[in-house]
Amino acid sequence: MSAIRSVVRGLGAYLPGRCLTNADLAQMVDTSDDWIVQRTGIRERHIAAEGEVTSDLALAAAKAALADAGLEPGDIDLIVLATSTPDNTFPATAVSVQAGLGITHGAAFDLQAVCSGFVYALATADNFLKSGQYRRCLVIGAETFSRILDWSDRTTCVLFGDGAGALVLEAVRDEADGRGVLTTHLRSDGRFKNKLFVDGGVSSTRSVGYLRMEGREVFRHAVGMITDVIVDAFEATGEDAETIDWFVPHQANRRIIDASAVKLGIAPEKVVITVDRHGNTSAASIPLALAAAHADGRIKRGDLVLLEAMGGGFTWGSALVRW
Ligand code: UT7
Repeated sequence: MSAIRSVVRGLGAYLPGRCLTNADLAQMVDTSDDWIVQRTGIRERHIAAEGEVTSDLALAAAKAALADAGLEPGDIDLIVLATSTPDNTFPATAVSVQAGLGITHGAAFDLQAVCSGFVYALATADNFLKSGQYRRCLVIGAETFSRILDWSDRTTCVLFGDGAGALVLEAVRDEADGRGVLTTHLRSDGRFKNKLFVDGGVSSTRSVGYLRMEGREVFRHAVGMITDVIVDAFEATGEDAETIDWFVPHQANRRIIDASAVKLGIAPEKVVITVDRHGNTSAASIPLALAAAHADGRIKRGDLVLLEAMGGGFTWGSALVRW
């Protein structure tokens, strides 16, 4: 009997209406459009409206993904939602999405791996589908990082934004066209947990806290970790920088993306970059970038797409997907 593959059926994204430009930020803290663009590539980011919560963003992205897939909510039996900014401490934001879609069967849960959350969620969903336990999964990355930013700290508040993206994955027992998730590789190293963290939490301070980051330290480790885990993906599949069609990295910093592509020998025209439009949206950044490249016709059925992310923990990971 042929093996099950997790095949991409649809993709959707959502950005909140309010757009905050670098010029707007220069009115709030001691920064400039020049500094932000040169150091990060970011030009603007979107901020959730008062009362608009992570599950609202996630639900909008999920509906768009279902429409793209031509599926009904009832066709979904698993929701894996990556977020570090849940609506509430509990229940999981994923169950609000499930209820919002009117789904009462199957399972929904959150997963927390900060900026690597989407790759972790994809790997988790892929393993559930390959095991035959579920049939169709919504893999969602959704964040409202604006709620954990210290808006007086110029070293962090200029970097992040809000947004959501969703992918519909379907278990297909058909290897004929080679589509699906080909391999995933997840890593973490908790020795670095204080390099990028939130200084509050349920069990430590009983409060939410603010994001704190030693940016230079994160930067110093990023390219090496990203390239290592991509080499793992290449070794597992026999693919390489030449055979991939698209590189869709976590959108944190244009300089990290460019340096990783150069180190791996990936041609610049294969690199999908959207960080300029939405900043670092943590777990949402990869599906937002995928959705942009899908909508403008770049990513097409049959393309080989390389994903990677690195973030707090540190956590990092890669995935290779035949679209
Ligand atoms: O998604 C999770 C992973 N996170 C990341 O990937 C972030 C990784 N880190 C980075 O992207 C970069 O380290 C940053 C963009 C955060 C910072 O860029 P950098 O080139 O590493 O700058 P730096 O931290 O070394 O700061 C250089 C200077 C400092 O001034 P002095 O000490 O040289 O006088 C900072 O105080 O830039 C100053 N600075 C700013 N100036 C204007 C820091 N933030 C700002 C700002 N506007 N917003």
